[in-house]
Amino acid sequence: MSTATGGFVPPPYPYDRLRDLEAVASQHPGGCVDLSVGTPTDPPPPAVVEALAHSGTERGYPLSIGSPPFRAAAAAWMSRRLGVDVDAAQVAACIGSKELVAGVPQWLRLRSPDRDTVLYPEVSYPTYAMGATLAGCRAVAVPVDAAFRLDWSAIDPRDAERALCLWVNTPGNPAGGLDDLGVAAAWGRTHGVPVFSDECYVEFTWVGPPRTILEHGTEGVVAVHSLSKRSNLAGARVGCYAGDAELVAYLSEIRKHAGFMVPGPVQAAAIAAWGDDEHVDVQRGRYQARLARMQEILALSGTEVPLPQGAFYLWVPAPGGDAWAFTRWLATEAGVLGSPGEFYGEAGRGHVRLAMVRPDDQLELVAARLGVG
Ligand SMILES: Cc1ncc(COP(=O)(O)O)c(C=O)c1O
Repeated sequence: MSTATGGFVPPPYPYDRLRDLEAVASQHPGGCVDLSVGTPTDPPPPAVVEALAHSGTERGYPLSIGSPPFRAAAAAWMSRRLGVDVDAAQVAACIGSKELVAGVPQWLRLRSPDRDTVLYPEVSYPTYAMGATLAGCRAVAVPVDAAFRLDWSAIDPRDAERALCLWVNTPGNPAGGLDDLGVAAAWGRTHGVPVFSDECYVEFTWVGPPRTILEHGTEGVVAVHSLSKRSNLAGARVGCYAGDAELVAYLSEIRKHAGFMVPGPVQAAAIAAWGDDEHVDVQRGRYQARLARMQEILALSGTEVPLPQGAFYLWVPAPGGDAWAFTRWLATEAGVLGSPGEFYGEAGRGHVRLAMVRPDDQLELVAARLGVG
């Protein structure tokens, strides 16, 4: 039965549009090397899995905001790895970062109904725009320069006046750019717009130290973190957000009413994950080696691609600027599934994103298929 009357129809999910090409790539002996989604395949640390299995927290409801040890572990991690001291009272749990990214516009709009706009980088993770759409708001893309930094001068003052929030993402998905988060924080304060800084790749920063917006104070800003990439826990669904005391309190109250809760065993796993840095250093080495190896494989087969400044994606300029044609070529010739750049905004049309999440032997399979092994 359908009761729809011409209202919202969810668009096709980007990766669902790749099923035909996946079938093409799968015809290669050894199967498809799926580099389309940034889903980790390397293992989380054993102590984290142990905590997940044996926390004894299954029976009762978990705290929506996160247990005190959970929030303390996140704050201690930020202090140790990012060099910022944030009060644990200004830290709250999220069920991975995607649901928070998708939900923030509707929650901000509830208390600022006179505002209706979400600003986000024009080449970026698609959920920033989708969150605006799901809230019935305007998604307004902010142009970026050649280094994928926001072009502040391009923001229309009328859009700034209507903005519920601005998203920044450093290191950025898909292009691996690093933005100046101090400038972002200052822009938000000047214009009275909360700045949400998606920092889920922060420990995969390859140029200089990791950057967090919280280095520039907490007023008017919220950093969003995730253990999905850091600790290969995308399947467990856990992250946190931290920053402006009033914003964190408001969001965490709303989320409590709506029943957003990180399961207790997952909170226990998160405490173990944030408490250990060694596994992240091992993972950094894996991603750096794969990025360099795939860059080499592509160069040997005729396509030059720069290394990213952060995150674990290659943002490959498609020969002739035709990303779908290059994605098809990759599937046909190399048995590789990539993501056409239009998934990340119109400005991404000429590129293909490749995620370095598959084990090294799969990259060697790609090299052999292309005859450059
Ligand atoms: C920039 C960015 N933000 C957020 C997410 C969501 O990650 P999760 O919901 O697993 O924390 C992703 C996942 O790929 C991402 O690339």
